[in-house]
Amino acid sequence: MILNFEKSNIYRQKIHQLIPGGAHTYSKGDDQFPLLSPAAISHGKGAWIWDIDGNKFLDCSMGLTSVSLGHAFEPVLERVRQELLKGVNFQRPSVIEMEMAEKFLSLVPQHDMIKFAKNGSTVTTAAVKLARAFTKRKLVAFPAEHPFYSYDDWFIGSTACNKGVPNDTNNLSVTFKACDAASLEALFEKFPGQIACVITEPEKNFCDGTCACGGEPGGFLQKAIDLAHKNGALFIIDEMITGFKTNFPGSIRKYSLEPDMTTWGKGIANGFSFCALTGKKEVMELGGINRKGEEKVFLISTTHGGETHAIAAGLATIDFFENNDVIGHSQQMGAKAISECNGIIQRQCLSDFVSLSCSSWMPAFVFRNRERQMDAGFRTLMMQEMIKNDVLFQGVLVPSFSHTNTEVNFFLDAFEASLSVYKKALEVGYEKYLIGEAAKPVFRKIL
Ligand SMILES: Cc1ncc(COP(=O)(O)O)c(C=O)c1O
Repeated sequence: MILNFEKSNIYRQKIHQLIPGGAHTYSKGDDQFPLLSPAAISHGKGAWIWDIDGNKFLDCSMGLTSVSLGHAFEPVLERVRQELLKGVNFQRPSVIEMEMAEKFLSLVPQHDMIKFAKNGSTVTTAAVKLARAFTKRKLVAFPAEHPFYSYDDWFIGSTACNKGVPNDTNNLSVTFKACDAASLEALFEKFPGQIACVITEPEKNFCDGTCACGGEPGGFLQKAIDLAHKNGALFIIDEMITGFKTNFPGSIRKYSLEPDMTTWGKGIANGFSFCALTGKKEVMELGGINRKGEEKVFLISTTHGGETHAIAAGLATIDFFENNDVIGHSQQMGAKAISECNGIIQRQCLSDFVSLSCSSWMPAFVFRNRERQMDAGFRTLMMQEMIKNDVLFQGVLVPSFSHTNTEVNFFLDAFEASLSVYKKALEVGYEKYLIGEAAKPVFRKIL
């Protein structure tokens, strides 16, 4: 049982003096975890990670879904090492950029051109910019329920965390009900000729029957693409989370979709910083420099966008996916976790309080209180207990290629042990068992 967080506690105290938020994404922040948790990770291997106190945990999030094969995965490391020896950044593009462009586009026959970046926000923002330039319209539409598309103003201004974003910008973002074609249609009627693009994730782990698409995200997406085109808008699918998870390369293949643009990141380079925007030629080439006499669109322009070893990591990751059934394996592990967790929940008579989605690509858990309301306190208690049982858990299990039967069984043992504490807490309140405060929402107005 893991209870020693001595070095983590020192780290927690110091880091906020040095780094605002104590991390480089708010999702990794101290307010997202219980007090009895690791504050910093020293290293990882496969599906396992070690914190600065030397505690070893099973990893359930895999670098916020970015590490699709496993930590320090040798076939990827080998390719990166070879590339590092040649230097990582030059005055002109490096040859590996063409190799990646051709390889990635061969996976996405819907699209003709690609632009690289280091972060997902950069590519979603670039897609929005291209759509505005192409349509000469201002408004951007996305589903109100989806959590995150970018830290840039066009998206973050629409959330509770809009301090620092002018209202004029916020007014340019409009929302519809996720997976609901009627709601999107109503939005086009409300803003005729004004919406430049619709951006949406193709599917969430709750698109399993409980959401507006009734478990048929592909049907909704096709209707939504048609609606956008009928109304003169472009359609962007954000595969940041689904890419290399729901299918290879993602849900646009799974559902045979042809969006105008698609954004990629996270799992496509096994955790290395390589993201991409792919799209149709007529839209993408607006960012080019060969349209003599026409106005330039300043698309993505970054010093590190062509960093060679991250691209090499992407090529090695693609190579591994092409030669191994990573999707089949990961989803098989996800399906095993779902069916066996459901069994444990039933045996403990907790079906009214703990449930999980049936998305085998990323099973997500919901934790409820005695009143059957979703409850951050109970969720945090579950995190605390899983951590005590050597599993770093935040409410989802992201199965990677390194999660085998051994890892899933380890997860199940921890889940069963943690649920027994959860059950007792339902009687007397989570406060009796949780040390410290409940985790807070990332998108909250007041700290
Ligand atoms: C759907 C989606 N789009 C975009 C992003 C932004 O990606 P990044 O954190 O790499 O900027 C995220 C990040 O969580 C995401 O989940």
